[in-house]
Amino acid sequence: MIKKGTRISTPKGKLGVLIPGMGAVATTFIAGVEAIRTQGAKPFGSLTQMGTIRLGKRTEKRIPMIKDFVPLADVADLVFGGWDIHGENSYETAVRSGVLERTLLDSLKSQLRQIKPLDAVFEKRFVKRLTPTHVKKGKTKYELALQVIDDIKNFKRQNDLDRLVMIWCGSTEVFLKPGDVHATLANFEKGLKKSHPDISPSMIYAYAALSSGIPFANGAPNLTCDIPAMVELAQRNKAPICGKDFKTGQTFMKTIIAPGLKSRMLGLRGWFSTNILGNRDGEVLDEPESFKTKEESKLSVLDHILQPEVYPELYRGFHHQVRINYYPPSGDNKEGWDNIDIFGWLGYPMQIKVNFLCRDSILAAPLCLDLVLLLDLAQRSKMYGIQEWLSFYFKSPQCAPELYPEHDLFIQLMKLKNTLRYLRGEELITHLGLEYYD
Ligand SMILES: NC(=O)c1ccc[n+]([C@@H]2O[C@H](COP(=O)([O-])OP(=O)(O)OC[C@H]3O[C@@H](n4cnc5c(N)ncnc54)[C@H](O)[C@@H]3O)[C@@H](O)[C@H]2O)c1
Repeated sequence: MIKKGTRISTPKGKLGVLIPGMGAVATTFIAGVEAIRTQGAKPFGSLTQMGTIRLGKRTEKRIPMIKDFVPLADVADLVFGGWDIHGENSYETAVRSGVLERTLLDSLKSQLRQIKPLDAVFEKRFVKRLTPTHVKKGKTKYELALQVIDDIKNFKRQNDLDRLVMIWCGSTEVFLKPGDVHATLANFEKGLKKSHPDISPSMIYAYAALSSGIPFANGAPNLTCDIPAMVELAQRNKAPICGKDFKTGQTFMKTIIAPGLKSRMLGLRGWFSTNILGNRDGEVLDEPESFKTKEESKLSVLDHILQPEVYPELYRGFHHQVRINYYPPSGDNKEGWDNIDIFGWLGYPMQIKVNFLCRDSILAAPLCLDLVLLLDLAQRSKMYGIQEWLSFYFKSPQCAPELYPEHDLFIQLMKLKNTLRYLRGEELITHLGLEYYD
């Protein structure tokens, strides 16, 4: 464990952000950062840019901005690159994705046009709905990994970068269960050389990042880093890793409402969630095997928060159903519907209906920014392996094998802020507060 108040090296020079999968989320993130640094746009939704942190007692009134409290890289120092299966530059992709207004994108055109994806590692078996035009060729998966490692080295050299972070914003891959090939690093490397069928493209990027000592975050629910082989590699090369699947729309709401119901000991009979969305992500998730990966990630949340084994009378056997409906006219403007059947005093039933009209990539982009900056901070603080304190950002947080993941958004936020306090040698905040009444 790192020491309280550990020395954190100051962020010098530029930080490269490598993104496998340069689609709607990635280009909304990139264009947003460009608008923030060149046009004074506001980074709403980003805890690192807008959030504060209370230090010491409430009477001390010490509440700095998070970005002034911990030495984060400046958004002005981010340099973007990545991979995709198509050859569009980021301007073209952002226009096609239809998330941001054309006038804004046109004002950023010269910067965005320069950001072009490199040829991707892709295997159709893992994302059946997409047909690639720009992919790498290699005799084995190991050769492909070496090509990605070369891409990383070249990107670093060409852009004169000091440090790098990789964040997967690619499509959701089909459901995979961890097997022998994922169990140890030795098995995984053997598997790469034999092109084992259960090594997915996202694992190849993660392997390349971690082999190069680069932190890795996973915006999709793919297995990717959530296997012992990658944890071993991250430990060995002192690279931080964290959870999977950005917690943005419906699951974000779920992890706010469910802890509230539980805190008041209100019971749950059923929770039906459906989503209507029409972007390319929706199209990929229309494929049952990709949906299965997403479904697993979305379903796990309620059981962990509500703990039916601890509160059987309130939560045993509640019906939880999640649907995703691909409806092209909606584009990136996802609509989440939730019907929640609860019960209270003497078992009397009640209902909650939530209709969240959100914008998927608008919710995800600030999470990308925070994760990039916090993973870089973690590495400069000499933290490596699983970073459970970043659970705040994920539908499927990653944690030590003997633990269950923490899904409650407010516990996650407290964990994140206490980790920052710990890094800076400040007292942790327990919210006990009895000392004010002595
Ligand atoms: N937007 C959200 O709120 C949100 C929340 C949670 C998770 N996610 C996940 O984030 C990911 C990105 O979402 P999006 O809306 O940008 O989707 P998108 O379809 O617009 O972008 C994904 C991109 O990944 C590319 N791709 C697929 N496989 C690749 C590979 N092997 N190598 C390189 N590129 C590859 C595709 O060509 C596409 O351009 C999806 O997996 C989605 O499920 C999004």
